[in-house]
Amino acid sequence: MTNKYKIAVVPGDGIGLEVMDATISILNELDVDFEYNYADAGDECLEKTGTALPEKTIDTVRKSDACLFGAAGESAADVIVKLRQELKLFANLRPVKSYPNTNSIAENIDFIIVRENTEGLYIADMEEMTEDGAIAKRVITREAESRIIDYAFQYAKNNNKSKVTGVHKANVLKKSDGLFKQIFYEIAEKYPDIEKEDFYVDATAMYLITNPENFEVIVTTNLFGDILSDEGAGLVGSLGLIPSANIGDDGALFEPVHGSAPDIAGQNKANPIAMMLSAVMMLRYLNENREAEIFENAILKVLEDGEILTGDMGGNSTTKEVTEAIRTALRGM
Ligand code: NAI
Ligand code: MG
Repeated sequence: MTNKYKIAVVPGDGIGLEVMDATISILNELDVDFEYNYADAGDECLEKTGTALPEKTIDTVRKSDACLFGAAGESAADVIVKLRQELKLFANLRPVKSYPNTNSIAENIDFIIVRENTEGLYIADMEEMTEDGAIAKRVITREAESRIIDYAFQYAKNNNKSKVTGVHKANVLKKSDGLFKQIFYEIAEKYPDIEKEDFYVDATAMYLITNPENFEVIVTTNLFGDILSDEGAGLVGSLGLIPSANIGDDGALFEPVHGSAPDIAGQNKANPIAMMLSAVMMLRYLNENREAEIFENAILKVLEDGEILTGDMGGNSTTKEVTEAIRTALRGM
């Protein structure tokens, strides 16, 4: 054990609390020294304190080496979208992978969505009411899109991926996505060894179902990345299996793609694996690669055994039972 890492822990609302507890209890099994700093955010926090994202929480996250985030409820836009913007976490990585004994539609799905995280349609101040409705502006800057596209190609290079797919709607959004597409091919030139292709977002939505194995790295703008990643969750059978990382130049936040799941919250039914795989991504970000592998392999073993699975994966075990099975697998490694 060498480094001691400061981790901001923001469980949030609903199943965020349950999957966070489960994940921390497994992290505590590993040979890594963490100082956890818990912070509030979300609907309950809004009710208690009048704000969904207190300054104190932003500060705790800012001062940490990394943040683990569970889920927020109705206040998610004021919490997670704001945290990403405040901390300039420009890259949102969402790996979509099929696992055995789950409801995945195919066996060999393994791609990652690299989503631009700071602009596009998700800038709160850019939406306004008008006399007869509302207008939302979509912001595409050369700087932010170049950065995310380059990030996607770098990711491909560093992770032995052979292809990057740019996703846009340049036929209709001629100026904004026209620019995205142009930048995509400009940056692609710097990576002659990596195959590149581009599709419209609507076609991509279909190809993901008809030919999901075709994809390795998808890079796209904010809203499209959000939508396609939930489609990715559908492909592999559950939101409870998709982790994510939000990476900036000096900070990172790791969270499951799912929300607070009010329909199953507090019932010991949530799949903790998306949150746990997010912690695995955090360990890799911290360069604790050995511990990351041990944790990931313990999760894989439980999925391969296929006996202790939560409802979303087709089983009838509880959050706690899955967590204990992963603990047992980890101790056996
Ligand atoms: P959701 O992801 O919470 O749930 C969608 C469906 O997937 C539900 O049927 C739920 O039971 C199931 N599900 C999600 N995670 C699961 C898990 N770990 N194990 C088993 N089943 C799981 O999305 P929904 O219903 O659209 O939103 C619920 C609340 O969450 C809303 O208030 C929304 O604003 C918030 N939300 C927050 C997010 C965040 O904090 N990053 C992201 C998405 C939604
Ligand atoms: Mg989403």
